[in-house]
Amino acid sequence: MYLKRLYTLFPDCSRILHLFSGALESDEKGIRFDISSEFHPNVCGDVRELERYFEPNTFDLVLADPPYGKEDFAKYGCEPFNKGKVTESLYSIVQPQGFMVWLDTILPKYKGKYWQLMGMIAFAQGPGMRCRLISIFQSKKEIGDIEIVNEISDQDLNSKPRNAIF
Ligand SMILES: C[S@@+](CC[C@H](N)C(=O)[O-])C[C@H]1O[C@@H](n2cnc3c(N)ncnc32)[C@H](O)[C@@H]1O
Repeated sequence: MYLKRLYTLFPDCSRILHLFSGALESDEKGIRFDISSEFHPNVCGDVRELERYFEPNTFDLVLADPPYGKEDFAKYGCEPFNKGKVTESLYSIVQPQGFMVWLDTILPKYKGKYWQLMGMIAFAQGPGMRCRLISIFQSKKEIGDIEIVNEISDQDLNSKPRNAIF
């Protein structure tokens, strides 16, 4: 239901990355990315090395569902990582004017020169349970910025990700 509702906000987005996809069903549209092979993601890798897996400007929508805090990292058996650094590397692989949707119990750190915060939706699953926050960002990248940002001159906007299949 969460994803169905989100998709309605982005009717024009088709190149979707599910970051930290966990147990997301394999028939979900888009690319599932996770460090844990037990979930059989389309791309199994570490978010700290995102640029190794995907070309710049690959996605028009990234939906991120990271571990929230220390306990959650421990539950998934993963090392904590710097969420602000992840939002920076997402800027590179998201297309100009593309979107990043971050589901967490915090607003992640982000650089105002890269991302415009478009809105936030908070929700509670029930009494006594943690509230969660959906933060919606739009990339400030313009088509003309690409050469400067990625230091690539002949950028192919339709380039396919290195390991992913749409
Ligand atoms: C909040 S869970 C995902 C929840 C998922 N929607 C579910 O219900 O299973 C976080 C996911 O982040 C993944 N993860 C943790 N550290 C990671 C990393 N460095 N790179 C990629 N994925 C990571 C974990 O393997 C876990 O599946």
